[in-house]
Amino acid sequence: MIILAIETSCDETAISLVEAKGGLSCPQFKIIRHIVSSQVKLHAPFGGVVPMLAKREHQKNLPLVLKQAVKEKDIAGIDLIATTVGPGLEPALWEGINFAKDLGKAWGIPVLGVNHLEGHIYSNWIQKDCHSRAGGNPVPKLPAVCLIASGGHTILTYMPNLTSWKILGETLDDAVGECFDKVARMLELPYPGGPQIEIQAKKGDSAAINFPQPMLHSKNYDFSYSGLKTAVLYYLRDHKRANKSNVAASFQSAAFTPLVSKALRAAKEYKAKSILLCGGVASSRALRNLLRREAKKANLTFHAPGLKLNTDNASMIAAAAYINHLKKSPKKLPLKANGNLSV
Ligand code: KG4
Ligand code: ZN
Repeated sequence: MIILAIETSCDETAISLVEAKGGLSCPQFKIIRHIVSSQVKLHAPFGGVVPMLAKREHQKNLPLVLKQAVKEKDIAGIDLIATTVGPGLEPALWEGINFAKDLGKAWGIPVLGVNHLEGHIYSNWIQKDCHSRAGGNPVPKLPAVCLIASGGHTILTYMPNLTSWKILGETLDDAVGECFDKVARMLELPYPGGPQIEIQAKKGDSAAINFPQPMLHSKNYDFSYSGLKTAVLYYLRDHKRANKSNVAASFQSAAFTPLVSKALRAAKEYKAKSILLCGGVASSRALRNLLRREAKKANLTFHAPGLKLNTDNASMIAAAAYINHLKKSPKKLPLKANGNLSV
């Protein structure tokens, strides 16, 4: 089936056209068009996303992005319209939802609400090959442990099969990506901070400063990032001539250690075959390399989506819509913005 998906939960206006087939036993997703219009430059001067500004930009961009993603000849082939209903910024979410509803009405196509976090999870199945032919990019082996790490969420889940999961732990305060953005601001690096910290960190020594590794030794699978953020703040207050690269490298290492350690511990406890990483922070080469290395040592396969699928996009929303649509009793999320929707 052909799915037109819309994503406007934060600061990317995204529309994708995706061909989905294979059913639940072998879901396959081929991206026909994948358009993302980022508002990063617009929000950068404010050091973060301004919800009402995001809403206005989505409103302006949606028709333009649609024109790029869907040609006149494509319309008759579309079977389903999928739109993110949460979690995210409600004013921004409403723009995508209303746009999807209008398209559905005009074209006579059903509209399905999608959970943004499910989109991140299933981003690991896009452009993968379930038949694992030689040279192909294989789908993740299940059961798996999946770490969702983004600007809004830090959640460790256990996935016994393709359609179910359980939350093992999550952040008790700031999300890991949010912490990167805040620390970047302290270091006077531009928004979004994650990629900037990674660039700085490459030039620094990760053992230079002993920042706390939040909840590393706690027995549960939860995370916490506000203490680490404060530790960096105090360090910078007390060391006016701090070496930025060393701060970035030491911070990055302290932030990632608990993620890697708990993902590995969960995989062992739950006898998972693979570890999946997704969400904007999965763009970090440092984190991907760390997790890949540790997974290999533990005889687990490691998966992270291709780069354009880590940060917010609509192809992942199409993938989640397809899987949900195939379930015996699909989740019927109301077509209403739900900023706090959970996985
Ligand atoms: O998934 P995403 O695009 O949006 C949300 O749903 O939040 O994630 C964006 C987050 C931002 O906080 C950004 O700083 C972080 O992902 N990020 C990174 C890196 N690239 C993006 N964090 C650490 N290292 C990176 N290389
Ligand atoms: Zn996201």
